[in-house]
Amino acid sequence: ELKDNTIIIVLGASGDLAKKKTYPALFNLFRQGFLPRDVKIVGYARTKMDEAEYHKRTTAYIKNPDEDADVASKIEEFKKLTTYVAGDYEDGAAFNKLTEHMEEIESHYQHKECNRLFYLALPPSVFTTVCKNLKEHCYSSKGGINRVIIEKPFGKDLESCRELLSSVKEYWTEDETFRIDHYLGKEMVKNLLVFRFANVSIGSLWDKNSISNVQITFKEPFGTEGRGGYFDEFGIIRDILQNHLLQVLSILTMERPVSFSAEDIRDEKVKVLRAIPPIEQSDTLLGQYVAANGKPGYLDDESVPRNSTCPTFAATTLWIHNPRWEGVPFILKAGKALNEAKVEVRIQFKDVTQGIFKDISRNELVIRLQPSEAIYLKLNAKTPGLYTRAVPTEMDLTYKRRFTDAKIPEAYEALILDALKGDHSNFVRHDELDVAWKIFTPILHWIEGQNGARPRPVNYPYGTRGPKELDAFVEKYGFRRNPGD
Ligand code: BG6
Repeated sequence: ELKDNTIIIVLGASGDLAKKKTYPALFNLFRQGFLPRDVKIVGYARTKMDEAEYHKRTTAYIKNPDEDADVASKIEEFKKLTTYVAGDYEDGAAFNKLTEHMEEIESHYQHKECNRLFYLALPPSVFTTVCKNLKEHCYSSKGGINRVIIEKPFGKDLESCRELLSSVKEYWTEDETFRIDHYLGKEMVKNLLVFRFANVSIGSLWDKNSISNVQITFKEPFGTEGRGGYFDEFGIIRDILQNHLLQVLSILTMERPVSFSAEDIRDEKVKVLRAIPPIEQSDTLLGQYVAANGKPGYLDDESVPRNSTCPTFAATTLWIHNPRWEGVPFILKAGKALNEAKVEVRIQFKDVTQGIFKDISRNELVIRLQPSEAIYLKLNAKTPGLYTRAVPTEMDLTYKRRFTDAKIPEAYEALILDALKGDHSNFVRHDELDVAWKIFTPILHWIEGQNGARPRPVNYPYGTRGPKELDAFVEKYGFRRNPGD
């Protein structure tokens, strides 16, 4: 449940993440009455600015396309909840100023208990210092809760992740720490548990006996424009596969948890991830986009080092060694500067036994995370008429059509609300990170030339489906393009 007397402190309040995601999510929660009564929001960052400038920045991404008067007045109310303190991240005295500011707010609360939720919208270079300073200077000792929300990158490999986690742990307990992978807040990802475990018909198809191969695909139609310098240090595997797509994979493949409690769910996720060995080089295809269709190539970005071999596209196949999944390839694919924006899971079933039907389409179950959430099942049916011929058709659950009035929450709204309630189910536990890095670290070290020359990714033109080698890559793992697809 939500606690009264809560302050939400956004550190990095003048940065991009806060502006684009955190404040709009806080506003939407506020507008719908989901924030605690008496809530106050305090921004903290290095930039010196007055309240007007701060409010301008924090509301810049709040959408009100129809200029709705109700929304406009809610924005004004929201502004009144939010204040700003400028200060350094290294300086203990500056954090004392933040505490004075919070105590002044808290002095107006009716009862003593004070709750503080710290949201770190900050670059990794200051994570640890800020965690330390918050604990030493801003931790409330008045009997309320203290929680800290942090977000990737959680290190760059197994070793650096372990270092980061253990330094944060010196100050904040696991129970107080909420590690965001924002894919876990997406509506369709949250639906996976219900879809899998509340449907007996789906549950019984969910294994190597029925399934031939699975693809989890992330496509973005823009390049690293403006973020090239940051991206080059990380690459597409750390940006998308190791976290977002692996999270989807674990929920898709885990055994049924004993309950919906955070620990039961995360125990099952860790268990299935532990059955995945490190990725092999031979199971990996790397790509980098080049200029095309009037758009610049990755290496044309001035913030990217010349000759960078950083992959902006990767396809890689994971194997799960347990009785349910032995032998089923799970292909994770992600790329920037492709031909469309889409994130989906595509489960391709095996062929029907040959005999009466030949050359018919395989069944496929597609779970589209975005855009336009949908689940559809491709089935064969008899064409209507006086003869018997099978044609591919679809059973289609498109959210927009089925749930016409529903407003699908943004991932960050769902996650901030969970953190306020203290529910860890959709946050990443330390051992999930550990095992995720075990799977990806060797391939990343190979890509970064730690054991020899760096492999050169293959080129693909901006705005296309990806490297031309991709079709052969997925076919190698048994994926068969159905006629007409
Ligand atoms: C972030 C990545 O984690 O996820 C970005 O760092 C990427 O590179 C983003 O664009 C995608 O998120 P979404 O919610 O738009 O799919």
